[in-house]
Amino acid sequence: MPKQPDNSQTPSPLVEVRNLYKAFDENQVLNGINVQFEARKTTVVLGPSGCGKSVLLKHLIGLLRPDSGEVYFDGARVDTIPEKKMTPLRRQFGFLFQMGALFDSFDVRGNIDFPLREAGLEDAAEREDRIHEVLAMVGLESTIDMMPADLSGGQRKRIALARSIVLKPRVILYDEPTTGLDPIRSDVINELILKLQRELDSTSIVVTHDLTSAFKVADHMILLLGGKVVLEGPPDLFREPEDSEVRRFMEGRASDEDLRAIRPQAPRTEVNT
Ligand SMILES: Nc1ncnc2c1ncn2[C@@H]1O[C@H](COP(=O)(O)OP(=O)(O)OP(=O)(O)O)[C@@H](O)[C@H]1O
Ligand SMILES: [Mg+2]
Repeated sequence: MPKQPDNSQTPSPLVEVRNLYKAFDENQVLNGINVQFEARKTTVVLGPSGCGKSVLLKHLIGLLRPDSGEVYFDGARVDTIPEKKMTPLRRQFGFLFQMGALFDSFDVRGNIDFPLREAGLEDAAEREDRIHEVLAMVGLESTIDMMPADLSGGQRKRIALARSIVLKPRVILYDEPTTGLDPIRSDVINELILKLQRELDSTSIVVTHDLTSAFKVADHMILLLGGKVVLEGPPDLFREPEDSEVRRFMEGRASDEDLRAIRPQAPRTEVNT
């Protein structure tokens, strides 16, 4: 009889995407994506604007469904779970949305209390403890009675982060956590990502085009270009990439095609044949 492969030593991914395709009308966004997100590691997903990073994240929690391909969580297929049975899966995830919206009409306490109530935690004292605990984690206990409109952009992100971890998720999804923040505020968010990783032992998936942030937090990196994963591996692999398209992205240079599109048009010369 053939020997069975011994998988006991192979680290198993907590979240996995296999052969994922997704188009919106004619726009083929994901074109056969295969990714494994290892448990207790921070994986950074890099890629230019519009390449499908947010679309990929949304597939992990069933906010979008694949045209074809599969999504797994903890070894079980999840992309086929009907919408009304999605809640238990979504509770495993904390999602810091790109637009990071807080409820404007609730104060900070009310914002963080919201998921606790939704999850059916009835003990008000316990909820208050949890709210203080996560606010302390993000260093903003003093804002508990403030309204979102009175917070800075960086503070709002941290409150949104506190809200996304209050149910102790196994996976934290960060969609562009540092966008719109100055370098110092960005670094506070980077430090928080590292701290939460240590303290909550969570699996983190960070989508960003902020390379400073990426190198600071990543255990593993993947780069999406043209709907595919074009490079994957430890951060060092991304420092001096061989492939010219990858290097162009990492160095932040416009492509010839981009430059042609924004250069003044050369006067047309009529060619008479
Ligand atoms: N619900 C949707 N309906 C139609 N098109 C969509 C939808 N969601 C995303 N798209 C399209 O899919 C492509 C990828 O979008 P996505 O938001 O994933 O980009 P991104 O990589 O996150 O970019 P950014 O870095 O700017 O956030 C874009 O062309 C976008 O217009
Ligand atoms: Mg996005």
